[in-house]
Amino acid sequence: MKKILILNWKMQLSVNDSCNLAKKIIDGIDLEEVELGICPDFLSIYKISELIKNSQLKLGSQNTFWATKGAYTGEISPTFLKELGVEFIILGHSERRTNLKETDEIINKKMKTVLENSLTPILCVGENFEERQNNKKDLVIINQIRSALKDVDLKNIKRLIIAYEPIWVIGSGQAIESNEAQETNTIIKQTVSDVLYNCGLELKEKEFENKIQILYGGSVDSNNISKFLKEPNIDGVLVGGAGIKFETLNNLIKSIK
Ligand code: PGA
Repeated sequence: MKKILILNWKMQLSVNDSCNLAKKIIDGIDLEEVELGICPDFLSIYKISELIKNSQLKLGSQNTFWATKGAYTGEISPTFLKELGVEFIILGHSERRTNLKETDEIINKKMKTVLENSLTPILCVGENFEERQNNKKDLVIINQIRSALKDVDLKNIKRLIIAYEPIWVIGSGQAIESNEAQETNTIIKQTVSDVLYNCGLELKEKEFENKIQILYGGSVDSNNISKFLKEPNIDGVLVGGAGIKFETLNNLIKSIK
């Protein structure tokens, strides 16, 4: 299975900058070896969807609303995103949990709608520094996963991606060690298996691999990416800072090979 690379462009690039970067990626990056998805801001998605139509580049969004249509001023529907070719939706990124006060309950509502509409959620989970210092990391992550998947209709899970992102290393330039990410991803895998099992769905190893992938995110760069991707329970990475300039992105992808 190809390793997954998801780029979260956050609110870092204008529409023009996003389109230029998408064009450079299509022209300059070999997408045979990785599954590369970009998550531009909402304004750029329409233009980018046109640009990447005939390429292997995949499209994601950084957020969505929990309803598909209605009187929800300022919100963005997952089905409107799907119409534009969006496949992935990031849910529960720590920047939204912190700045926009997104709760586990809100994330659960979004999770249900995203799955009902056959989109792939990229659920972000992770501890803050204080939780880590107090040895609460595993508990926090397990609770975030359980809450996000609460009462989800299992038949809707075609594909689910979970990204472990320790909040305190995001954007810091200093990632955690790959073996620690591997250990946490193993706990994540076990937690998802347990949730599914308790709801009556027991997935064989291969089925699990096909449906559920677990990423690491937080200061991934060209110096550390290959260490993360060598770990057996790290199926890919979620990248912020290193994915918003062509040169750093190109280096990142070259260092996987
Ligand atoms: P970073 O961001 O790679 O800049 O640390 C990762 C993220 O926020 O998903």
